[in-house]
Amino acid sequence: MSENSNALSRRGFLKVAAGVAGVSLLGGLGCVQEGGTDGTDEDIDPRDLTIFSPGRLGSVELKNRLVRAATEEAYCTDGIPQAEYLKVMTDLSKGGVGMILCGVATLTEEDSLSFELAAHDDKLLPGLKQIRQAVGAADKTCKLFAQIGHTGHRYVGGLRVGPSDVSWPGDIYPMRALSVAEISAIVNAFAQGARRFQEAGWDGIELHGAHGYLLSTFLSPYTNKRTDSYGGSVQGRVQIIREIMEKTRAAVGPDFPILIKINSDDRGGSEPDDLQGGINKQIFLETAAELDKMGFDGLDVSGNDCVQPGVNTAEKQSYFLDAASALDVSMKVILTGGNRNATRLNSILKTSGADFLGIARPLIREPDLPSKWKTGQATDPKCISCNLCADPMTIITGLRCHQET
Ligand SMILES: Cc1cc2nc3c(=O)[nH]c(=O)nc-3n(C[C@H](O)[C@H](O)[C@H](O)COP(=O)(O)O)c2cc1C
Ligand code: SF4
Repeated sequence: MSENSNALSRRGFLKVAAGVAGVSLLGGLGCVQEGGTDGTDEDIDPRDLTIFSPGRLGSVELKNRLVRAATEEAYCTDGIPQAEYLKVMTDLSKGGVGMILCGVATLTEEDSLSFELAAHDDKLLPGLKQIRQAVGAADKTCKLFAQIGHTGHRYVGGLRVGPSDVSWPGDIYPMRALSVAEISAIVNAFAQGARRFQEAGWDGIELHGAHGYLLSTFLSPYTNKRTDSYGGSVQGRVQIIREIMEKTRAAVGPDFPILIKINSDDRGGSEPDDLQGGINKQIFLETAAELDKMGFDGLDVSGNDCVQPGVNTAEKQSYFLDAASALDVSMKVILTGGNRNATRLNSILKTSGADFLGIARPLIREPDLPSKWKTGQATDPKCISCNLCADPMTIITGLRCHQET
């Protein structure tokens, strides 16, 4: 949805404004005129945006621009949330974030791990409802979205599946290409998972199409070597997502927001910096254009190198800003990764075309960071991006900051 469908799109406006001012979008922080507004999302002049301006994702209004990025909570047993899980959600809701995206929830029994949130069966509905109730009881203005995904080649302890039999470099496990019938079953599992979250009262969903998860391997030309309708071109590589979108939309109706998170770059992180043939900026932009046509309500911009360490200088922050700024799409843009400084984030909202800001690690250590920002108690988080919490061996013990005693 564009900010102002009657006039120039926000991203178009920013490009014009930057051109008139003779500045680059990235370098021009604070270069534009300030002004007041009390209007709705659609009425807000981009130059007036702050992290505490309300914003809209499809039919859902968020009280501010701060999104808790999907962060695996663990703290489940047999896919059912336990007391510690509900505490994580309660603390986040009280802490002032506009919307919580839960850590990825799995959608098929074979893909589920006991400690992760699961949504493959109606018998899991009571747990999903409990989470919704806990978030609402802590602060009824906090919105709750579910991230849903299939792990594909990251699945530990079982079948590794993907579009083709191509493993990521360095991955010692063989891959098996999914059959068309298996793809159809996975498409249905996404739609049914989304329907369950809607039935449980959640406000929307995000498809996990980033970080080497199954949809990410379909999007990447590095791993997708299919020659049928699910590969061969950007249009082919997005086909599984097109089908998921169609089935999910039919299952949840027109008003339930559907977002997607994708890589703007497949290099780095657990993959080599010199990875050739994966998603690069150009492929990312072409992919985003296809997703835009499908009617997604928002695009969450990430990259394979998603948890960059030591994000302690301005240059290291908001590390996918360049990719997000290059987008020209009508769906809303969520910029995730390395968002740290409140003043800088206000400037990014005014100048980059990003509509929302996803934050993960700082909210593990300080779930009330948004409230602290709002009341001027802090501008920088206590999180030092040491990544102790992101280690696969610590994730399974439950989400917490390992710098805290
Ligand atoms: C412990 C941990 C778990 C994560 N789990 C997920 C996940 O379930 N889904 C996802 O898309 N990203 C996940 N991420 C990545 C975050 O959503 C985010 O993209 C990344 O941490 C960068 O944001 P930050 O700099 O604010 O931490 C996780 C990150 C951490 C640290
Ligand atoms: S362990 Fe704590 S300080 Fe380190 S990245 Fe995680 S939340 Fe931040």
